[in-house]
Amino acid sequence: MMGPVLAACLLIILSTAWISQANEALCKKDGGVCSCNNNKNSVDCSYKKLTAIPSNIPADTKKLELGYNKLSKLSPKAFHHLSKLTYLSLDYNQLQALPIGVFDQLVNLTDLRLNRNQLTSLPSGIFDKLTKLTILWLNVNKLQSLPHGVFDKLTELKTLYLQNNQLPRVPEGVFDSLLNLNTLDLDTNPWDCSCRDILYLRNWIREKQGNVSNIEAAECAVGNKAVLDITEKDAASDCVSPNTTTAIPTSTTTPASVIYDDIHEIKVPQENFQKFLGYQEPDHLPTQPQCLMSISGYLGLMMSLMLTSAAILYVFHFLKKA
Ligand SMILES: *[C@@H]1O[C@H](CO)[C@@H](O)[C@H](O)[C@H]1NC(C)=O
Ligand SMILES: *[C@@H]1O[C@H](CO)[C@@H](O)[C@H](O)[C@H]1NC(C)=O
Ligand SMILES: *[C@@H]1O[C@H](CO)[C@@H](O)[C@H](O)[C@H]1NC(C)=O
Repeated sequence: MMGPVLAACLLIILSTAWISQANEALCKKDGGVCSCNNNKNSVDCSYKKLTAIPSNIPADTKKLELGYNKLSKLSPKAFHHLSKLTYLSLDYNQLQALPIGVFDQLVNLTDLRLNRNQLTSLPSGIFDKLTKLTILWLNVNKLQSLPHGVFDKLTELKTLYLQNNQLPRVPEGVFDSLLNLNTLDLDTNPWDCSCRDILYLRNWIREKQGNVSNIEAAECAVGNKAVLDITEKDAASDCVSPNTTTAIPTSTTTPASVIYDDIHEIKVPQENFQKFLGYQEPDHLPTQPQCLMSISGYLGLMMSLMLTSAAILYVFHFLKKA
């Protein structure tokens, strides 16, 4: 009865030891998957079909490439030890949501690439610590709204890519802090030009035309009219109260909290073992403490068997003598 459990336990202990050793190798030269340029503090893990961010990315990394992988969620603390980053690419992945505060330590980041994901919304304040950001890529996602004030701290931003999303409107004042902006792509969004709240965007485009390139390419969803050209009469409807554009839709806040819980509930050795064998359900496997208990139980049983047989032999021996 002990045999299969013991075998499973030994396998678990050996494989987690093997995996934690494998996890230490990040760079190709050590047997890892990423290309590392230690002098330039850059780590390139792009095009690797990764579903999780490799562990042990050095804390002094400045440039981290994670683009062209299969990342679908991030741990809230994924980058918290990487405060030296100036460049982070997460483009061409499958991210559906970003956890709150995931970029909060990246105070020196200048280039953030989130384009070509599946983002439908952004958490409020997600870029608030990125005061040195000069270029932000959010194009080719499924953004349906932007949180109020989402770019307010990005005073150094020069380029913002928002094209190819699902935005019908932006919150009033959303671009007002971007005093260094020189390029903003807004095209290929379904701008709703029948609503009064589009007039903020129209007025901003009119004001910045000539100073910020590409903004005039924003077109209304209906009628092929440029946002720049819409009249007060076109935009006469009171579609939404100004605050409904600021709220994060409940349908997108739920997955974010689920993601958060998932990551915190999985125990790390178990997770490694699961990944290693491709298991989906950790419930069927004993945990390491259980293994240790079962092994010590097994050893204890063997020991007591030996002691008992020794005692019996001794008694026999004694009886024989007497
Ligand atoms: C950010 O960059 C500045 C200037 O290079 C440096 O002094 C500072 O230590 C950096 N901050 C972090 C958290 O690395
Ligand atoms: C346009 O850019 C120039 C030079 O950077 C600046 O002086 C001017 O205030 C800007 N105009 C607007 C409307 O932002
Ligand atoms: C909209 O939100 C702002 C700030 O969040 C608040 O001050 C204001 O009272 C709200 N307006 C309405 C109509 O709810």
